[in-house]
Amino acid sequence: MIQPDNTPYSVRPAVLHDLDTLVAIDARCFPPGIAYPRAEIAALLHSRSVLTLVAEMQKMIVGFTAVGHLYRQGDLKSVQQASWYGELITLDVLPEFRRAGVGRRLHQAMEDWLRAGNAQGIQLHVAIDNTAALNFYGRMGYRKMVLIQRYYLNAIDAWQMGKTFA
Ligand SMILES: CC(C)(COP(=O)(O)OP(=O)(O)OC[C@H]1O[C@@H](n2cnc3c(N)ncnc32)[C@H](O)[C@@H]1OP(=O)(O)O)[C@@H](O)C(=O)NCCC(=O)NCCS
Repeated sequence: MIQPDNTPYSVRPAVLHDLDTLVAIDARCFPPGIAYPRAEIAALLHSRSVLTLVAEMQKMIVGFTAVGHLYRQGDLKSVQQASWYGELITLDVLPEFRRAGVGRRLHQAMEDWLRAGNAQGIQLHVAIDNTAALNFYGRMGYRKMVLIQRYYLNAIDAWQMGKTFA
């Protein structure tokens, strides 16, 4: 376990060169079938409407997050003035670096970016058996909104969780 105060880490936008590392990290954070295929992570890195951030400790990537835009139905006619939400696509921290504040730091950087862009809030989905993530998001101020049956692999239920910015 890495101690939070002893090891400095920093957050920066991901670049295409990070692709292999992010694919490997996602495969360690999620089971097969739920982990993103390489092509989807590549698509995130190429997308101009997705922010992907990595956290590094001593130049080693230890976690990453990706967040996209979600426009409310009915707002699409005037996107420039539309209210929008962040859609948290993924948040991954390598197992050996957990409980050291990396997830919190990535989440804060992502939330700062959303707030700077006048997002109304953020939403995400998390499997009901993912206790660590449920605790983490609860701590970050999210509320459970809707229980969606068989969201993952047509088998595992998920909570849709959300947080509205003040
Ligand atoms: C969820 C996840 C991103 C948390 O990352 P992390 O770097 O360990 O989180 P932090 O150290 O910043 O934790 C912040 C707070 O969240 C809560 N928390 C985090 N992990 C927890 C756990 N396993 N059990 C209970 N609470 C937890 C705690 O309140 C913690 O504060 P504390 O350590 O001071 O008690 C990480 O466990 C992970 O990558 N899991 C696998 C992938 C995943 O499920 N991602 C989320 C779904 S998209």
